[in-house]
Amino acid sequence: MQWRALSDDLKIAFEKIHLFQLAKLTVDEKVICITRLEDGFFGIQDTCPHAGALLHHGHCNRRGVVSCPLHGYKFDIKTGRSADGNNYKIAHYHFKIEEDKLYMSE
Ligand code: FES
Repeated sequence: MQWRALSDDLKIAFEKIHLFQLAKLTVDEKVICITRLEDGFFGIQDTCPHAGALLHHGHCNRRGVVSCPLHGYKFDIKTGRSADGNNYKIAHYHFKIEEDKLYMSE
């Protein structure tokens, strides 16, 4: 897994995210739906592959399953895979904070 450092501004934004809260983050051209789980920060592409709703307007449960706000399709934020049998696999991202720096991997 290759990690790249992100800006200090993004690190400050991350630190404000509560457990299971969804937020939007833009890195380069990528718009990512992120959350904090008990074992770290994770993200998936923000655009739902079904009909384009913004996933950060949805809901994240304690297991990291994000429900789309439009039709309720579910995605595992750790893997990008459908969590309801819809066979979608979307872009996903992992994050870590080490030595006061925020890193992202794809
Ligand atoms: S737009 Fe997300 S489930 Fe339909």
